Amino acid sequence: MAYTPVAYPDDKPAFYQVLREQLALHLADAPTAVTALANASAVLSDALGDCNWIGFYLVRGDRLVLGPFQGKPAVMEIPYARGVCGAAWQQKATQVVRDVHAFAGHIACDCASASELAVPLFAADGRVLGILDCDSPLPARFDEKDAAEMDAIAADLASRIANLA
Ligand code: SME
Repeated sequence: MAYTPVAYPDDKPAFYQVLREQLALHLADAPTAVTALANASAVLSDALGDCNWIGFYLVRGDRLVLGPFQGKPAVMEIPYARGVCGAAWQQKATQVVRDVHAFAGHIACDCASASELAVPLFAADGRVLGILDCDSPLPARFDEKDAAEMDAIAADLASRIANLA
């Protein structure tokens, strides 16, 4: 299927509605979790303005390992509870970081990053499967409304990959 460019609305609820439709379209029948998350990172990166890195870290044992993403090369492994992503895993809670330089333990991947959103993907039993991580060169790029919308997107992605190899 050829990708058709999408006009995303400026209005935030409408924007996220179109984004969810695009994710459903481009993840339908994904054969593996990596396939689904690869297309998810591409759709998210295409949609979300002012972001320099969007992608996934996946739980493997006691660490997060780098998964599909769009952006500059990034740290490949993050120990439990380290950095913004590790905090999202440990706390089982989305992290809205308005200023990464003020976040103790922030792991800098792209020095252009100024703010960050890290969203856990939960299995049905409550385990964290991975983290959706978004970096922006703008301070305070993400607010609580973005976090709530991305929580819903992460829940959908988690249910899509839960039974895929
Ligand atoms: N900043 C993240 C590390 C991953 S990069 O942003 C892609 C963190 O502190 O966990």
